[in-house]
Amino acid sequence: MDKFARQNPMDWMGKVGQAQPAVMNAIAAHGISLPIKRNSMNEGFPQCKLPATATIEVWMIDLDRPLNPEANLDGILSIEERNRAERYLYPKDASRFMLCRAMLRLGLAWYLETTPQKIALATNRHGKPCIAECSALNFNVSHSGGLGVIAFTTAGEVGIDVEAIRCDVGAVEIASAHFTRTEAAMIAAAATPQEQASAFLHLWTRKEAVLKAAGCGLLGGLDGVDVSQEPLDQVRLYSATGDRAESFWRVQDLEQIEGFAGAVAAPTGNWSVLQRPVRYEDAIHGSLGRIFGVE
Ligand SMILES: CC(C)(COP(=O)(O)OP(=O)(O)OC[C@H]1O[C@@H](n2cnc3c(N)ncnc32)[C@H](O)[C@@H]1OP(=O)(O)O)[C@@H](O)C(=O)NCCC(=O)NCCS
Repeated sequence: MDKFARQNPMDWMGKVGQAQPAVMNAIAAHGISLPIKRNSMNEGFPQCKLPATATIEVWMIDLDRPLNPEANLDGILSIEERNRAERYLYPKDASRFMLCRAMLRLGLAWYLETTPQKIALATNRHGKPCIAECSALNFNVSHSGGLGVIAFTTAGEVGIDVEAIRCDVGAVEIASAHFTRTEAAMIAAAATPQEQASAFLHLWTRKEAVLKAAGCGLLGGLDGVDVSQEPLDQVRLYSATGDRAESFWRVQDLEQIEGFAGAVAAPTGNWSVLQRPVRYEDAIHGSLGRIFGVE
């Protein structure tokens, strides 16, 4: 059972299941960027290639693309991460997790000019990962089926979400129970069940991106944020539990990825999103500078 099939959003810990054949084509369609200016200041990591303050760099990763047999993901991951991979019931889920986490470590190492093994990850009390000794570089991860996305930025706390688009999500029922009234009405008004599901998943990813940026995840309450009114420059997240102040976020849909809905959220401001496909080989063999246009 996946998270959309569960009635209680607090229990939605499962994942959308199957590999998407469109992933490889969809992410391959994105091009190469122009040079951008990088930040160079960060305590603890004096030499680094941090994204410019006004940029969120989004890596799109095909998690089902076969790797060269010599690829050594084990050597990149921590003991805890290797143990976690062993606990997955299905080998496919384990290998998707390992590749996505290895890419996260390779990305952090590239931006901070260190080695992936030296990155110490910590989590907040709701499980949001961060870098233990670095406050300047923020990141967030999402995966759905065979697609993984990672957002890296110095624009502040960031949240990202992707979901494979499918029709059996119970769009109208879940929206009427857990979304705001405006959002639920918008979904109910869509002409066909397919359009309802698509509208639902687009709103869902916007909401989850905000809740992940704020660090609370779905515990923050799906109805605590309304993402139906564009522009999404000043989206308010109400404090559902009273343990934090209300906050404001800017939300942006990801550039179209065939078969998926996706969104990213970060503090209000003039940041822009640079969205690129990245392969394991790019991260290992030093092609990241070309992909992200480092001067
Ligand atoms: C965390 C949560 C948002 C994940 O949602 P999802 O759609 O199933 O998964 P996604 O693929 O979008 O995101 C998963 C990634 O989000 C990140 N993440 C985990 N907790 C997070 C949080 N509270 N806020 C932001 N990001 C979080 C992790 O990097 C995770 O990647 P990993 O599985 O490789 O470690 C959802 O499960 C949730 O809100 N749970 C409630 C919080 C909770 O109960 N935490 C338990 C630990 S205290």
